[in-house]
Order: sequence, then C-alpha cells, then structure tokens
Amino acid sequence: MTGNAQGVAACIDSDHQELIALTTPRPAAVIVLAAGEGTRMKSTTPKVLHSIGGRTLLGHAIAAARGVDPDYLAIVVRHGRDVVAAHIAVVDPDAVVVDQDEIKGTGRAAECALDALPANLEGTVLVTCGDVPLLCAQTLHGLLEAHGASGSAATVITATLPDPSGYGRVLRAGDGSVAGIVEQKDATEQQREINEINSGLYAFDVAILREALSKVGTDNVQGEKYLTDVLGIVASQGQRVSAYLIDDLWQTEGVNDRVQLSRLGAELNRRIVQGWMRAGVTVVDPATTWIDGDVRLGRDVTIHPQTQIHGVSTIGDDVVLGPDTTLTDVEIGDGACVIRTHGFLAVIGAGATVGPFCYLRPGTELGANGKIGTFVETKNAQIGAGSKVPHLTYVGDATIGEYSNIGASSVFVNYDGVNKMHTTIGSHCRTGSDNMFVAPVTVGDGAYTGAGTVVRKDVPPGALAINVAPQRNLLGWVHDKRAGTASAHAAAAATEDSPIVPEGKPSA
Ligand code: UD1
Ligand code: CA
Repeated sequence: MTGNAQGVAACIDSDHQELIALTTPRPAAVIVLAAGEGTRMKSTTPKVLHSIGGRTLLGHAIAAARGVDPDYLAIVVRHGRDVVAAHIAVVDPDAVVVDQDEIKGTGRAAECALDALPANLEGTVLVTCGDVPLLCAQTLHGLLEAHGASGSAATVITATLPDPSGYGRVLRAGDGSVAGIVEQKDATEQQREINEINSGLYAFDVAILREALSKVGTDNVQGEKYLTDVLGIVASQGQRVSAYLIDDLWQTEGVNDRVQLSRLGAELNRRIVQGWMRAGVTVVDPATTWIDGDVRLGRDVTIHPQTQIHGVSTIGDDVVLGPDTTLTDVEIGDGACVIRTHGFLAVIGAGATVGPFCYLRPGTELGANGKIGTFVETKNAQIGAGSKVPHLTYVGDATIGEYSNIGASSVFVNYDGVNKMHTTIGSHCRTGSDNMFVAPVTVGDGAYTGAGTVVRKDVPPGALAINVAPQRNLLGWVHDKRAGTASAHAAAAATEDSPIVPEGKPSA
C-alpha cells in the first residue's frame, strides 16, 4: 500500500485537511446549524442524518469544520434532537451539542450556540449549515483568509445563480460591500431580480455577532429570528461586511429533498472517483463506480464497472475489483483480485482471488494467495495462506490452516438450531467433494476425506475419513419399474448387445 491517500482531490479528504489546518488562521469556533426540521425529506430520519458518500450530511459538515481546526465546534440541534446528538457523540465526541429553544430561526440558533460557548471567546467564528455536504475545508479556509485580509466584521459566502429562487438575496452598497440580505419571502419584486445569493455560510467577529444578534427581532414573514439580519445591522453601524463570492456552486447547495440528496450524492461521487483516477487508479466506468469518502485505494488499482466500495475500506496496490462487486469495510492486500462479490467486514490477503459470485460475511479472513471461488459463502471463517475453497461451498465459524483444499459443494454445518459451533481444518488437508463438517469437529493436518463424507468425528492428522455406505447397483431396475419411459428406451439401446441381468440382483 503506497501513501496514495493524499492524492484524493475530493473535498472530504482528511489528510489534505490536516495540511490546511497548519497554514490557516484558526477560528475561535465553528457553529454548525442543524436544528431545522427538513420537512421536505418526508422522512422519520432527521434530514442531517441522511447520507451521501458514506457519511451523513452532518458528518460532511463536521469534517469541513474540523478541517480549519477551530478551538470549539458547536452543533445546534432541535429536530430529532436525541438521534442527532447520539450521532454527534459517535462522529465527533469533542463537539459541543447545543439545544435550540422554541424561538425559531437561524439567528436564534447562532445565539444559542454563542451562549453555550465561553463568554470571553474572541476572534472569528464561522457559521455553517448541517445540510450543505459538498462544502469543503478549503473553501472555509478561503473565507477565513478573505475575512481577515479585508478586516471585515462579517463576511458571507455568496454565489451567482441563474435561478436564485428560494435563497436570500445579497444587497450590495455602492462601494461593493454588503449592505444586507433579504429573504426571498420578504423581498420586493426588484430585490428578487438579484442573482447573488446568500449561501448561509459566514465568518463573524464573535463580539460583533453577539451584540448584533441581541438586536435582531422576528418582524418578518416567517416570524423567525434571522441570522441574515445581522449583516444589515452590522453594516448600518458603519462596520464593513464583505461577500466572498465562490464559483463552485455545488459547495453552496443545501439538501432540502431527496432529489437534491441524490444530485449532490452523484456529484460528490464524481469528485471522489475523479480524485482517485488522478491518484493512479484505473476506473473503467466512473458512472457506475461508487466510492465512499473514507475508502483508501493503492496505486494501480483497477475498478471494473458496477463496483461500489463503502465504509472504511482499504485496498492495496495492484488490486483488481469488479465488475459487479459491493464491498463494505473490507481490507484487501496488494495484488488481490475480487470479481462479482458482495463482501462486508472481510479481510482478503495479498495475491488472493475471490469470486466470481461470492458472499463474504463478517469475520471472513482469507490468507495470502488463498482462494474463495465460485458460489461460495463465508462467515467468521479464517482461511490460511494458500488455502482454497473453490466451488459451491458454505464455510461458517471455521478455521482452515494453510495450503488446504476444500472439495466442491461442502457445507460447514455450524448450527444445531440453538448454538453455533466451530470447525477446525488443519494445514495441507484435502477434503473431498460434497462433505458435511458437522461442528464441533476437527480435521488434523495433512488429513484427507472422501467424497460425500459426513464428518461428525475428529479426523486424526494424516488419516483418510470415509463414511459413505458401499454402493449397490440394482441391475435392470429401470426396465422393470419404469417400463416405457425414455430412460427405459435409452437403457435398452445401450444394452442391446448384452442381456439384462435379472431384476433385483445386485451386480458383483
Ligand atoms: C437560509 C438563509 C438564506 C440562505 C439559505 C441558504 C436565513 C434567515 N436564511 O434560508 O438567506 O439563502 O439559508 O441555504 O438564515 N436552522 C436551525 N434553527 C432554525 C432554523 C434553521 O438550526 O431555527 C438550520 C437548519 O437546520 C439549516 C440552516 O439553519 O441547517 C438553514 O436553515 P433553513 O431553514 O434551511 O434556511 P433557509 O430558509 O434555506
Ligand atoms: Ca435551506
């Protein structure tokens, strides 16, 4: 595995964000607003807990915020409070969870966050939204720099949209500074013509924000305490308010419904996949390849169409994946090959081959140069280096040593209806086709088993286990019992030259 991870161009690359943190002016705090209801999602799951690219919307907002290394990260919650807070505790236990009270609006949300942070906080505070997932740390870094360089009291990220409807519009003063923001619902006909929109992402001087918020009322169409009113208040006090206009419109787009969720999910994926191609990964069909943000890929990996790599998966150098493969939280060693496989929480050793048509369930560990072949299901199975399970087999709750071969169509019978039990196969074993290993049972090193064996007793090292009854051939049985059938005719034709031995008499 090379240090390829840094090459990813996607915004959410954490290695890149660490670099930013070292060179940027650091904010005193980032406040992430995530208390809104998200009614248009029509979901029992709070909007900010919907996911794209393997992270929740809120998870993306947290990653961007952490990328500028704030002293405090405050996340304002209300709708679905307990589930959202529980999610934050997992993703970012150091974040301060702030409860918004019954007073509505983005301004009130920011105010609640400031109340929860130290009263003597100084410097710059950034305010972002929990539902703008493509915003990246680089952009917040740019905002911080522009805010510092212009000496502004407040700076807002803006964008120019062909269709600005729904957004707050930016009102510019004659000198190009920002005079205020007016919400669509409160705007005049003339103001609605303005194409420059408020992204809802801001940098403020903490003290000025605190003071201005105390002056914001709720006298507007929605009866809410608007954060946007702060900009007009600050500007009218004679302090400078600036706009930081960005070109990448995706970074200002919020998720309001599931159409936008998939739209932004596809764009995020496009960015991640492109980043990996630039970092030395061959992606045969980017349109059908989905890679989560926390996946790490080695150099010269080849990904065939219809492949999804999810979770915290780590893929080594020269690995070939797909087509038609879905892998979640897997670790794959250099040079392995995984074709038409569904895998979850599995480890695949270097040089190993998997598939086509495999189901790897949690706890599967395949050693170097091992093989899990066609129509094989594995679960909690440690398969040693060079060992092979080539065909039509279920391996559950088992340990297989090194360089053993499991015959086709075998079942590791691990469940008695109440308990799961373990099977151990040694190294250099060769088990026959169509074996049942009835757990708990152990096959010693170097042992063989015959075809069709039901292995209920331990097999000592080097032994051959067989327990299938001797075969009997009832000659002429078809002629007697299935007269007139196609089988009987075929048998008659095949035995034309030799007489049929009388019914019921076994052959020698
Ligand atoms: C807001 C802006 C608008 C801007 C748009 C950008 C205001 C008044 N308007 O409008 O100018 O163009 O974002 O997307 O700020 N939230 C809370 N508590 C609340 C209300 C909202 O935490 O009481 C959070 C939401 O969860 C969301 C963010 O604030 O993350 C924005 O809220 P939303 O209701 O989507 O604001 P918009 O009406 O879109
Ligand atoms: Ca919104």
